[in-house]
Amino acid sequence: MDPGRVFENDPPSRTLPWSVRPGARAWRCAPAPAEVRSFHFSLPDYATTPLTEIPSLAVELEVGRVFVKDESARLGLPAFKALGASWAIHRTLAERVASGEPGPVTLVTATDGNHGRAVARTARRLGQHAHVFVPQGVHPQAVAAIVAEQAKVTEVPGPYDEAVRLAAEEAAAPDAVLVQDTAWPGYEQIPGWIVEGYSTLCAELDEQLAAEGVTEGPDLVSVPVGVGSLAQAVITHYRSRPSERASALLSVEPESAACVLESLALGEPVSVTTGDTTMAGLNCGTPSSIAWPYLRGGLDAAVAVADADSARAAGDLAALGVSSGPCGAASLAGLRAALTGADAEERRTALGLGPSSVVVLLSTEGDAANPHSTAGH
Ligand SMILES: Cc1ncc(COP(=O)(O)O)c(C=O)c1O
Repeated sequence: MDPGRVFENDPPSRTLPWSVRPGARAWRCAPAPAEVRSFHFSLPDYATTPLTEIPSLAVELEVGRVFVKDESARLGLPAFKALGASWAIHRTLAERVASGEPGPVTLVTATDGNHGRAVARTARRLGQHAHVFVPQGVHPQAVAAIVAEQAKVTEVPGPYDEAVRLAAEEAAAPDAVLVQDTAWPGYEQIPGWIVEGYSTLCAELDEQLAAEGVTEGPDLVSVPVGVGSLAQAVITHYRSRPSERASALLSVEPESAACVLESLALGEPVSVTTGDTTMAGLNCGTPSSIAWPYLRGGLDAAVAVADADSARAAGDLAALGVSSGPCGAASLAGLRAALTGADAEERRTALGLGPSSVVVLLSTEGDAANPHSTAGH
């Protein structure tokens, strides 16, 4: 039987978009390569991002402890994405040297802002060129931030998928390479390196939690999800280590772009028609092809939230001293949706949560990262 079909879904009349898979904590996979962390450690701007405990959220969510992993300043940029871009570009250039192509290269990508800016920054640092395709709806400030990294920017009068298509076409030119943070059949190696790059975030988290006395890992991690590459990295981390007490993993998407929730519900990867959302980095209609087996196997649950919920979560985090944009704060909005309200007890039980549980939410961008565009990834 297709394991994806064991998902239990709420009936369509329910208001909370929610999908749960009971067997996920027993699913296992191979770990990310250990050298990623030391690579990041060698970068000039590298520093561990903060892990902040927020007792008032633990009270509100009726759990023992809540920690926020704050990605508002990562490798000089206001989102976690440079972890993936820097490692993938390092690997790409190393392969080119190994195959006798050491010359300059143009790194091509499509983006709603964060990933493209990270590719452009990395290209500039390494003396390479970058060409970034942005779909319609990307805020002019996000475009300006990419231009400021000396990248060539092409604005596409269409949605994110169209920008990806044009970027892939452009990357067919000699001495050009597509560095995209989503995979599809036939284009999987570089997105795989991007996922590996995100593993540093999880490695830091282990050390930081251990320093807080949480040595067995958290009971629940809440992850904002667009195409699922970050979630793939988180699943890889928590499902590849021997643990008596496996962590539950929750994905959070915008209601208007819940391609992972929809795919889990159907048991196969599907594309959804996306609409507008302030959670621009999560506005993706298709799960990454390499993420899908991990999402299907290792995610405990998926939930979708409205723009107003992530905006409220961002405001609350700001009041608590954590800068968080709409995508980053989606993780808190998703936790609130899952752990409180009607039928919360059922969902808490499904996630294995109790009053002393330790919960981590990944705040994947700072407020400065997102000038409230409505485009794709
Ligand atoms: C700030 C932020 N958070 C989360 C994500 C989601 O990552 P993924 O598309 O890998 O699921 C993105 C993607 O661009 C993002 O920019």
